[in-house]
Amino acid sequence: MNQSRTIGVFDSGVGGLSVLHHIRAALPDAKLIYVADSGHVPYGDKSPPYIEARSLILTRFLVEHGAEAIVIACNTATAAAAAALRSRYTLPIIGMEPAVKPAVAATRSGVVGVLATIGTLESARFAALLEKYAGEVEIVTQGCPGLVEVVERGDLHGIEARRLIERYTLPLLARGADTLILGCTHYPFLAPLIREVVGESIALIDTGAAVARELNRRIELELPSPLSVLSAATATASGDNTQFFTSGDSEQASRIMSVLWNERITAQELPPEFA
Ligand code: DGL
Repeated sequence: MNQSRTIGVFDSGVGGLSVLHHIRAALPDAKLIYVADSGHVPYGDKSPPYIEARSLILTRFLVEHGAEAIVIACNTATAAAAAALRSRYTLPIIGMEPAVKPAVAATRSGVVGVLATIGTLESARFAALLEKYAGEVEIVTQGCPGLVEVVERGDLHGIEARRLIERYTLPLLARGADTLILGCTHYPFLAPLIREVVGESIALIDTGAAVARELNRRIELELPSPLSVLSAATATASGDNTQFFTSGDSEQASRIMSVLWNERITAQELPPEFA
């Protein structure tokens, strides 16, 4: 049912590809359009109005290209812009937020660490999330300046990535955290290195799979059944049903995104009015 859908997905950069992997697995034949706002990355240190304005522009691009549902594959943009997007559009808009609820359920030590951008951690939405789900569990937050940038460079195993991960995670472990929330969509790409630094006994939790499930549920619930006869435009051949765009340099984006998508892809530059 959901297979012939067109889904628009955006992030500040390449991090949202960690979510796109889950969406592709959940909807193998859907047409996916991904936009990396590489010309404006990182969002983590930008103001909420700036991020809201970018999110509105990227969503307009995706809707004009046929998106029937939007996934904000970015915790920071969800905090800053989900409400504005939902007030403007009636199509399903799926956001994401740090996985506080499952982490609180999983911890045995009673201490959970949250790795996220400063923008996410300072948002009213995150405060409301803690209010709702933290209960008796101690939540220790850690902003992670610089981590998004190492992923954007494709430096997933380098010395700088390791140094930042040590600086951000080891104090959380010293506070007794046994569960770490990867509260930014760039961080799952660093999970192997984070695992090396924190060891096997620490749980790492992210929300990519939950977002893909929620997308599927919302499509079923809110979108009318697709026409049984597919138009030539929607009946894309498999293998050609994911499109990538960037507001940055297409050569650099293509190189990094090919590594993170595990396939040689070409990222097209957004038209100037969207970049
Ligand atoms: N990937 C984004 C997130 O999930 C934001 C990264 C950034 O640009 O700071 O929060």
